[in-house]
Amino acid sequence: MDLGIRGRKALVNGGSAGMGRSAAQALAREGVEVFISARTEERLVRACEEIAQETGARVTPVCADHSSEEGRAKILAACPDPDILVGTCAPPPMTPDYRAVTDEQWLSAIEISLLSPVRFMREVIDGMVERKWGRIVNIATVAAKYPAEIRLLSGNTRAALSNYSVAVSKVVAKHNVVINNLLPGMHHSAFVEKQFNERAAAAGITYDELVEQFAKEWNIAAGRFGDCDDVGDFVAMFCSQQVNYITGQSLVIDGGATNSTF
Ligand SMILES: NC(=O)c1ccc[n+]([C@@H]2O[C@H](COP(=O)([O-])OP(=O)(O)OC[C@H]3O[C@@H](n4cnc5c(N)ncnc54)[C@H](OP(=O)(O)O)[C@@H]3O)[C@@H](O)[C@H]2O)c1
Repeated sequence: MDLGIRGRKALVNGGSAGMGRSAAQALAREGVEVFISARTEERLVRACEEIAQETGARVTPVCADHSSEEGRAKILAACPDPDILVGTCAPPPMTPDYRAVTDEQWLSAIEISLLSPVRFMREVIDGMVERKWGRIVNIATVAAKYPAEIRLLSGNTRAALSNYSVAVSKVVAKHNVVINNLLPGMHHSAFVEKQFNERAAAAGITYDELVEQFAKEWNIAAGRFGDCDDVGDFVAMFCSQQVNYITGQSLVIDGGATNSTF
């Protein structure tokens, strides 16, 4: 299916690895010009080169921390008028004991996972409204909808981000600007591979064995983790022409780990 976005311009914050990278790649495959931000230059430049080579799209690296004022200014100078904004970041630290979460950790998570995407949205939405076309996708977390002690920092900040996105989506829908959220469960990203390899080594088991244990413990119906492309491809679909009448939605992508009738 042609997603109808060839020639559009996308800003993908946090796109050198994991689900952000998959999102950038899926958009580039659709003929979108992509600007990708990340902090680590070498991995970022490599990712951009690989995506450009695979897709033939124009892909520009912007080495910057999107949670800092300076970083945001650099990113928006490189791509001041995106048609598409995709936001992600490194997962906030896990929180195995709610009593141990410090104020500093709360403030840092709020800054990175909530205020940064809010500020980007505030900066780019007016232009989208003027041009009568805009797509925004926040890659958040299933813990926004289904809270868990271990995901206090990730879930709370993204619940607030989803709430904000839905509220703003109602204001701008009449201008053909749609805002949606994706709520991933467990996916084999750079972050997850590093964490699970370390934990598996400490437990004296393999990565695959640990993933299998985790999938059982957390009732992942698919019995496995997802790929990052499972999310990236949906980012592209949520940025498509066809999504014009779907807004303010938060889609869970978690292999059936969370259950409800609707
Ligand atoms: N993986 C999962 O199973 C899972 C599950 C639920 C939710 N999520 C959510 O999905 C999102 C992506 O997770 P992931 O596992 O794909 O992460 P990842 O593999 O660590 O990739 C994160 C990407 O964001 C970049 N990044 C991080 N902080 C940044 C910043 N401040 N400024 C610019 N770029 C930044 C990273 O590059 P640099 O480090 O070089 O900046 C990297 O390109 C996270 O928000 C996470 O909470 C993930």
